[in-house]
Amino acid sequence: MNSFINLCYLVSAVLFILGLKGMTSPKTAVRGNKLGAIGMTVAIVAALLDHNVLSYWWILIGLVIGGGIGYVWSKRVPMTSMPEMVAALNGFGGGASLLVAVASYIESQHTPLFASTPDWSIAMIASVLVGAVTLTGSFIAVGKLMGKVSDAKNVRLYKALVKLCAIVVLAGTVYFVMHPANAYLLIGVLGLICLLLGVLLVMPIGGADMPVVISLLNSYSGIAGAATGFILHNNGLIITGSLVGASGIILTGIMCKAMNRSLTNVLFGGSLAEQGGGVSKSESDAFYDGKVKQADADDLAMILDTASSVIFVPGYGLAVAQAHHATRELATLLEKRGIKVKYAIHPVAGRMPGHMNVLLAEAEVPYEQLIEMDVINPEFQQADVAIVLGANDVTNPAASDDPASPIYGMPILEVHNAKTVAVIKRSLSPGFAGIPNKLFINDNTLMVFGDAKEVQQRVIAAMNDL
Ligand code: TAP
Repeated sequence: MNSFINLCYLVSAVLFILGLKGMTSPKTAVRGNKLGAIGMTVAIVAALLDHNVLSYWWILIGLVIGGGIGYVWSKRVPMTSMPEMVAALNGFGGGASLLVAVASYIESQHTPLFASTPDWSIAMIASVLVGAVTLTGSFIAVGKLMGKVSDAKNVRLYKALVKLCAIVVLAGTVYFVMHPANAYLLIGVLGLICLLLGVLLVMPIGGADMPVVISLLNSYSGIAGAATGFILHNNGLIITGSLVGASGIILTGIMCKAMNRSLTNVLFGGSLAEQGGGVSKSESDAFYDGKVKQADADDLAMILDTASSVIFVPGYGLAVAQAHHATRELATLLEKRGIKVKYAIHPVAGRMPGHMNVLLAEAEVPYEQLIEMDVINPEFQQADVAIVLGANDVTNPAASDDPASPIYGMPILEVHNAKTVAVIKRSLSPGFAGIPNKLFINDNTLMVFGDAKEVQQRVIAAMNDL
């Protein structure tokens, strides 16, 4: 039976890897998701065959309650609240590892002739500590994403407290590994400190950096799960936890690279505005004063009427305005007139990985028209019009020519190279980085002020009247 169970875990591991591979392209993502789900079903069935299961009733009750809540929740959650849901699920994963580790510890202390090995003690304490940090850190992230928890102001105080907690946890961990028997009090205290540590670590991080934090916490939940797998001698859990831990950290790295920021800067640097990015209203007014050219929807409709290629550049404002369906409608209208349409996708446009892909897929934009930054950048020079829809930082030329800028080094969409650039946003307000955008004062840029959805609807109406 043991060999059969391990064979099942091997099959599920292969399915997880194929599932992850499928996630690398929007075309294969649905199939990848299904393969992952089948892998998880195989792993659950294998776990249930384990001879250590004494009664199936508790498991069945848990499956029905947990599965029921999960089903209803995932059916109801709007696409825009997906990051909150993912963060909460990471938190539950960490919490589960914490509880299983504590239960296993209690059980071990009731085993006659308890004897531990250092690797068991390390796995035990890692599961408790990482699980606790993941639990509270994830729920602070959920609060920030929902706008219920604001960014902590005194970053230095938080940093000092984090250091203090880390020293205590490290000392306690070493002590536990050396004296693992009857350490209930020590485990309790360390667990509580790590619950606090989760809060202290996430509180000072800027709300807009939450996707990076969630991805990192996702990785932590995997590490905690893998550690629990070592405690339970469950190969399936070790493999799954390791895959989650590794993929979470890789995604975190990709996001940091696309913003040209180090993970340390995201975690301990405070929000970008605090790092010198934020400019006052008067500084911003002086930057733009008399240099901005304005146009309205009718002007844009006329420009588009004579264009032969148009590139849409979606950003966070497109998501806020829920303007993706209007964008698709406008694109279809342009295509009917023989105009070539493409979409330029920046890796960190919006507020979560793949934000723009998901939105545009929801509006049924064909995948082939979504072009990644490196491929689309040389094409801007040939484009007649680039329409920037609620994107700001990801189009700011300061990222490549102003070493003093907080976003210097971040790769951008080279929108400024298009023959005409139309920027649709409500005002001259800055984006996430809190800095003015040189693109808005370029000779070939026209600002079309207004909500992204409303402006596009007006452009569609105007084009239909032409
Ligand atoms: P941002 O630079 O944040 O700019 C968004 C713009 O949308 C704002 O300037 C805002 O201007 C406009 N806007 C808001 N509501 C709008 C509406 N209803 N209609 C039209 N426009 C609207 O966005 P971006 O260019 O997508 O850049 C993303 C930023 O987020 C980057 O700095 C990136 O580093 C950061 N970030 C991204 C991620 C991921 S994984 N995507 C993770 C962490 C951080 P108005 O208020 O004037 O309308």
